[in-house]
Amino acid sequence: MLIVKSLEELRETVTSWKRDGLSVGFVPTMGALHNGHISLVEMSVQRCDRTVTSIYVNPTQFAAHEDLDSYPRQEDEDQSKLKAAGCDLVFCPTTEVMYPEGEETRVDVPSLGAKLEGQFRPHFFGGVATVVCKLFNQVQPDTAFFGEKDFQQVQVIRRMVTDLAMPVEIVAGSTFRADDGLALSSRNAYLTDEERAIAPALAAALHRAAIRIRAGAAHAHALAEAVETLKINGFQKVDYIEAIDPSTLDPISTPVPEYPLRLVAAAWLGKTRLIDNIPL
Ligand code: PAJ
Repeated sequence: MLIVKSLEELRETVTSWKRDGLSVGFVPTMGALHNGHISLVEMSVQRCDRTVTSIYVNPTQFAAHEDLDSYPRQEDEDQSKLKAAGCDLVFCPTTEVMYPEGEETRVDVPSLGAKLEGQFRPHFFGGVATVVCKLFNQVQPDTAFFGEKDFQQVQVIRRMVTDLAMPVEIVAGSTFRADDGLALSSRNAYLTDEERAIAPALAAALHRAAIRIRAGAAHAHALAEAVETLKINGFQKVDYIEAIDPSTLDPISTPVPEYPLRLVAAAWLGKTRLIDNIPL
């Protein structure tokens, strides 16, 4: 497995693969890899001839008050997990490579990016779209893999790829969960033991709301009940819990049984903000 920091070496390697007619899969990450990330790498290894994973904690998707400095970093462990999963190249660019001196160009998906997460993290999707656009230009993958765990992120990336006619196929992998239902996330490392025991209540509340809605309960009622349950369980604040149209991300309040809705939520457990979503 090659570990590459420079753009020149990345380009040389990918160009030689493509010259040999090999397809290239790509998994962008911020490191602190867990089995959710690895499930995407394995998908890429299965579907593509060569797999590139990037590890870069992208400063433009963090607000000043957020956890850029404390975001977990574990390079050596990440590299051995990637090697075991069959990854061919890890791209670990420096900030000089990602945001060269004098840089100012940004990619924005203003409407989709302002909904749900965007209400609470207004800087977030501009940073994500900008860095993923740069990474796509650097890696030039045929296929890129994203996790449904970050459902809105997948939709924002799909929109960007369509709007900017990027020649990349986007594939979404399903959310990888711990045995107790908690969606794996690098930020779960922030949870205390006590909070970790409470955390699965988020997925459980989504499942309960889904069952209630499928049984004919009014959305508002089922969702309000979920907020109450989360608070009783020890979540301090629920930023949102909504039944949404998966393509527009707009809330759907009336039952449309044949429509594939998505239940999405973000809630605070101590100092940690957890997000999750399930199909409905
Ligand atoms: P990061 O949080 O490291 O996630 C990298 C990829 O792993 C994303 O596509 C994310 O949705 C996916 N992922 C995370 N947890 C998962 C889980 N439990 N199951 C399945 N997939 C999971 O998302 C980012 O990084 C960044 O925003 C990035 C796209 C790299 C841009 O900086």
